[in-house]
Amino acid sequence: MNGFAFLRLPVAMYRAFPCAYHPERIEDEAYIAIVSPLLAEPGIQKLGDFVQHSDITLLMHVRAVSWMTYTFCKTLGWDHVAAARAGILHDYVTYDWHVPDPSHRLHGFRHPGFAVTNSRKITELSALEENMIRRHMWPLTVIPPKYKEAWALTLVDKVLATRETLRKYQKH
Ligand SMILES: [Fe+2]
Ligand SMILES: [Fe+2]
Repeated sequence: MNGFAFLRLPVAMYRAFPCAYHPERIEDEAYIAIVSPLLAEPGIQKLGDFVQHSDITLLMHVRAVSWMTYTFCKTLGWDHVAAARAGILHDYVTYDWHVPDPSHRLHGFRHPGFAVTNSRKITELSALEENMIRRHMWPLTVIPPKYKEAWALTLVDKVLATRETLRKYQKH
């Protein structure tokens, strides 16, 4: 990474954002090739049935996190393939967390582990990808991320989750 990459980052993120919740606008062929096999999985498509925050489904959320983390990491010369994949997989659960059920009590703490288990059923995870998924809820999950890409994912996830939650109040 050259010393000026951090200066390019805000511009790259600003330019990428209009595609975050409109993935049909994404023209980056490399990105599409990375995420397409994951998006074709029925379990990932099922995330479209679950609400994440306000009117944003879980599938819309993970696609936005994937695209923005990919842009973040690619701009800095970091592992953007892992970023795209872990973004799609980081919240891969098979339930609606708004519906109370003993099987997913303490969702905030436990869902990164569920996501790792579910992801392994559809793809192999590198150590980096596993860490990105497992630590994305830091500081809730006390152990911090181990890799710079994992820090990028947890940061992007928090920014987008906050924005998605605030939409509920913006509409009134
Ligand atoms: Fe999460
Ligand atoms: Fe998330």
